[in-house]
Amino acid sequence: MNQDKGFYITTPIYYVNDIPHIGHAYTTIAADILARFMRMKGRKVFFLTGTDEHGQKVEKAAFEKGRNPKEHADIMVENFKSLWNILDISNDSFIRTTDEEHKKIVQEILQTLYDNGEIVKKKYSGMYCTPCERFWTEKDLIDGKCPDCGRDVEYIEEENYFFLMSKYQQALIDHIEKNPEYILPESRRNEVLGFLKNKSLGDLCISRPRQRLQWGITIPFDENFTTYVWFDALVNYYSALKYLAPNDTEFWPPDHHLIGKDILTTHAVYWSTMLMALRLPLPRNIFAHGWWTVEGRKMSKSLGNVINPWQIIDKYGVDALRYFLFREVSFGLDGDFSEEALIRRINNDLANDLGNLLNRFLAMNEKYMDGLINPFRFSSVLLQEARNLVDIDRDFAFQFKNLIGEINHEKLWDQFKFNIILEKIWSAISMANNYIAKTEPWKISKENTERLSIVLFNIWNSLRVIAAFLYPFIPNTALKIWRALGLKEYPIDNKMLSWETDIKETKTEKIKQLFPRIEKVNKKSAEYTKEKKKEVKMEELITIEDFMKIKLKVGTVTCAERVEGSKKLIRLIVDIGEERQIVAGIGEQYSPEELLGKSIIVLSNLKTAKLMGIESQGMLLAATDKEGKISILTVDRRIDAGSVVK
Ligand code: MSP
Repeated sequence: MNQDKGFYITTPIYYVNDIPHIGHAYTTIAADILARFMRMKGRKVFFLTGTDEHGQKVEKAAFEKGRNPKEHADIMVENFKSLWNILDISNDSFIRTTDEEHKKIVQEILQTLYDNGEIVKKKYSGMYCTPCERFWTEKDLIDGKCPDCGRDVEYIEEENYFFLMSKYQQALIDHIEKNPEYILPESRRNEVLGFLKNKSLGDLCISRPRQRLQWGITIPFDENFTTYVWFDALVNYYSALKYLAPNDTEFWPPDHHLIGKDILTTHAVYWSTMLMALRLPLPRNIFAHGWWTVEGRKMSKSLGNVINPWQIIDKYGVDALRYFLFREVSFGLDGDFSEEALIRRINNDLANDLGNLLNRFLAMNEKYMDGLINPFRFSSVLLQEARNLVDIDRDFAFQFKNLIGEINHEKLWDQFKFNIILEKIWSAISMANNYIAKTEPWKISKENTERLSIVLFNIWNSLRVIAAFLYPFIPNTALKIWRALGLKEYPIDNKMLSWETDIKETKTEKIKQLFPRIEKVNKKSAEYTKEKKKEVKMEELITIEDFMKIKLKVGTVTCAERVEGSKKLIRLIVDIGEERQIVAGIGEQYSPEELLGKSIIVLSNLKTAKLMGIESQGMLLAATDKEGKISILTVDRRIDAGSVVK
């Protein structure tokens, strides 16, 4: 790997017609992990994510909501930005395809390719699926329907502009064969090669007549056409460097385009050939990861099984989710999401193995050393020579050092072998836990204080390296461990990924449990006893008919923002089967970011009211205690928006 070139990593740019789910979070966290690791390694990193905002789907979704497409995109983009913020994503920039600079660059590229004879106008016909925005041949269809979504298709004939992709077929095969790491994992590489070798590549239709696709970038040489989704979207990886990246470093070509397996062809074939036509160097790697399913089924709105990341974070915390996604399955393969598996990982790996190791060490160091630790005294050379050292101590240091070498292996990181890296980090954690069990520091404390300080140093030092390696995966937790080890003045950098250290004396600090165990609450509902029942005065009672007048529904918060000029009011857009705007006086207790994605209870048949000039079409339910503290009512498991509460 060329260490001088800036390290450039991207995620797909996500469509703004939907709110982000766990699948989108997955790709973005993966890119974040590698970006953080590369920064630790001293590389200058440009980590890009963003949103794909043109196209019929966005246009349609916007019109359904009575907005123009840009207004819609402006609202929806905030969901992505706020989720990345909550998930501690360290992206260096965020691109939107509606950025004027991006649009200009797309047009420049189109013009260059047109001038060079790489784009021509041709007649085109085919079976078109509007929701997928894709043409299919008769052969592709399954029972006459779209092979992707199963919906009806229509026959369309029109003139369009085509990128002459077919002439790059052999060049692309050669490139993939010469560069075994161009497409990873290997199974995906073979898939693409198989396809390229057995089928002849067609030319790529890159335009749509303006009357059919208005919400797009105008083709510069023919204003009756707009460019079709991929020619706009893929160019983001290139255009971002022109106006969003620091210009003191060379970032092109990208090191990794991280994508889901669903968009492999568009990247491996369309993007690669586009770059060939532009005479630009190709990315070093395109990595297509697997998909998350839920109980074996694809996540989809219609099945109501979409995993809402805000809810998971709310219940289990950001780092538990970040850890789980990358420990549970190998990054290239599909994984099945379940809360049970997540809880198991939290309890076994995070609370038990990692949390206990830290707390046991902190307690012992406090008790026997008053929290003091003197790493320099025991740095590697001294450690070899130290008197009173026994084989267990020497072996531990030796084996731990070997393990560091394995975890640090560049290939593991560069090929996104995150679950293997985490397994190895957990081997290091077990090694340290076993070392405590074998050395029994509480016994040494009575006989040999010199050896005790070496043993405690060994544990401290292993925790230091473990925290440093954990930082890319679970940054918040790693920082907590860092502070507890007395390291807050030291950056977590490449120097920390090694057993040797020149850190001078410091003091450890006890902290709260890193990950409290999750107990599955299954208490029997409290027994209803006549004796305990308080007398309810008859005049306080209402009839069931009275209650039935109240219409309560479960709603998902899809947008939240403060009302300008008010400390208290927050304007929410809530999906209760239909969209409602609700203005709620909860701004002193809740921030808009923490409301996003929450499932709340809405009184849906309340007469509309205006608050600071904004119409409120309902009310959310919240409890208020004696001090005026507010807690919003929510549901205890995932349920569709619009479900009736009674
Ligand atoms: N806008 C295009 C990409 C253009 S890139 C130049 C697009 N957007 S998308 O919003 O549909 O996001 C697709 C990406 O989201 C996938 O490639 C994948 O990275 C991620 N995922 C979406 N659902 C997923 C799962 N169920 N599981 C894992 N990741 C998935 O396509």
